[in-house]
Amino acid sequence: MIFTVAVDGPAAAGKGTISKALADRFGLAHLDTGLLYRAVGAKGGDPVAAAQGLTPADLARDDLRSLAAGEAASKVAAIPAVRAALTQFQRDFARREGGAVLDGRDIGTVICPEAAVKLFVTASAEVRAHRRWLEVGGDAAQVLAEVVARDERDMGRADAPLKPAADAVMVDTSELSIDEAVAQAAALVAARLG
Ligand code: DC
Repeated sequence: MIFTVAVDGPAAAGKGTISKALADRFGLAHLDTGLLYRAVGAKGGDPVAAAQGLTPADLARDDLRSLAAGEAASKVAAIPAVRAALTQFQRDFARREGGAVLDGRDIGTVICPEAAVKLFVTASAEVRAHRRWLEVGGDAAQVLAEVVARDERDMGRADAPLKPAADAVMVDTSELSIDEAVAQAAALVAARLG
């Protein structure tokens, strides 16, 4: 069975949590595509060469979740040759036997336009910044400024900008608990699985 669930949306909207839960519940493989861009940004040097030569060890670094790694990822993600180098791996993953959930920014629009289910998971910038701040601490105003800057870069780039696919279902998690958000997403997947 080839069954792809595309989960896109801005930073800290809940994509990762929802995607993991869907993968567990429906027995699908899960790929956090942001990790690919984070690993490229963290590797340093020429980002295109880094993307072309990405190894499992690069993806296993434990500093990839930091705010700095997210910033670096967002910058290298605007380079078309970096995106091109990572495309085939993601497409192969999306079409793996048994089904897959991929979360990112361009899964429903570019990587897998034929996905069976497309979710666009979002929340207000204030709510997302607050969630980030609970994780990382520091200056709340600065965390909000970073979330807004990252949104602008991800939505404003020419190649594969962050935007909902025309046929994506919006899931706004601003006022939902994790359980409520997961339940909403799972109902959409279950309806499509039949
Ligand atoms: O989802 P994340 O915060 O781990 O993603 C980090 C950055 O990587 C994000 O700001 C933009 C980029 N990214 C992308 O351009 N396309 C994807 N499919 C996933 C992430």
